[in-house]
Amino acid sequence: MSLPTLRLPEHLAGPLAAGHPWVYRDHVPGTPPIADGAWVRVEAGRAAAVGLWAAEGAIAVRTLRRAPTGGPLAPPDRAWVEDTVARALATRATVATPDTDAYRLLFGEGDGLPGITADRYGRFAVLKTYAEAYRRPGSDAFELRGLVVRALAGALRLKGVLAAPQDDAPLTALHGELPPPEVTVHEHGLAFLANLHEGQKTGLFLDHRDNRATVRALAAGRTVANLFAYSGAFSVHALAGGARRAVDVDVAPAALRDAERNVAANAGRYPERAAVDPRGRHATLALDLLTDPAAALRHADLVGSDLIVLDPPSLARHKGQRHAALRAYRRLNAAAMAALPDGGLLATASCTAQVAPEAFRAALAEAAVEAGVDARVLHEAGHAADHPVPLAFPEGRYLKFVVLRVDRPS
Ligand SMILES: C[S@@+](CC[C@H](N)C(=O)[O-])C[C@H]1O[C@@H](n2cnc3c(N)ncnc32)[C@H](O)[C@@H]1O
Repeated sequence: MSLPTLRLPEHLAGPLAAGHPWVYRDHVPGTPPIADGAWVRVEAGRAAAVGLWAAEGAIAVRTLRRAPTGGPLAPPDRAWVEDTVARALATRATVATPDTDAYRLLFGEGDGLPGITADRYGRFAVLKTYAEAYRRPGSDAFELRGLVVRALAGALRLKGVLAAPQDDAPLTALHGELPPPEVTVHEHGLAFLANLHEGQKTGLFLDHRDNRATVRALAAGRTVANLFAYSGAFSVHALAGGARRAVDVDVAPAALRDAERNVAANAGRYPERAAVDPRGRHATLALDLLTDPAAALRHADLVGSDLIVLDPPSLARHKGQRHAALRAYRRLNAAAMAALPDGGLLATASCTAQVAPEAFRAALAEAAVEAGVDARVLHEAGHAADHPVPLAFPEGRYLKFVVLRVDRPS
């Protein structure tokens, strides 16, 4: 098959040969007459790759197959997709344990299938695609998605492979059956209810799984303020780790109702402790935390909590919002640090891809100055092994997670 070929600037030869999976539109000469979602060959220097053309958006080509020193390249076929999916599943061997049946099966660019993610929730896999052509019948991208669905269904004992609700389309079965309104899954031995039909992300924020285990290990005897809690997963882990009390705060009342049910679903897994907080073990509060975080913490009576989890939503969609995001991180973290007592812990996260780990750490350092505290890093992480990041694609590492100890020396 002869593919339309795009000659890219010479300086892209290195990234292309190394496996960077994106070609930005700024680097494409002119406006080539290629159908949205069609296979295209790109070349720079001696390097070549085959990818999918996107007619709109900042990413013009998502590459899948490459030839670092040139030569012929066919578009991915069924055997290639099966092999790529098998490699992705092998990478999850350490994640998929009897204790954990909710994790990311395919992390798009990180698994050689740019623009496609798949999350496992027990016997269901939920696919999400990041270019419209993947969802448009007749395009090469749509055919590729079909091969991925087949490969997943062939490799795993699944009841259904689903397309996540997207662009007003509801959850759809691409293979097998639709799930019930709620499925129960397990993360490090704890149970969680996931609504695949309506939940945020594809149901749960799976990327924090190991970070929640870290909080569990730090929580014994502490009172926890779980800010931007969603369905309370950090609190469930903290209570399982022996926290005295956990309060979930989020702007979404429906998520907080799920938090109550998740905390209740694990009641038998919390250690019995003599020193349970007299106000009870768990509470939820629907509150906006972004407008004035310091006032919100006072209003919620959370000043003095000695373990604060801070996991805001993505605060920048594109480069132009990066500075505003950094200001917001500084403000949020300063408010949390100021609310902690001497020796308190702050487990703080950023899922904004536009903010690099160094920039996030710098914002935390500024927040400590603003709050007038000493803050030391006890632990730093990103996402877990089910979110692999190619060395040639540092943009893939979007999640930052830092645990700080806050001191107020006299
Ligand atoms: C990254 S998610 C949190 C995930 C959660 N930590 C977990 O482990 O499942 C961000 C959350 O922030 C909430 N949110 C968004 N804007 C908010 C605001 N202004 N105030 C409070 N919560 C907000 C969303 O409803 C969402 O649940």
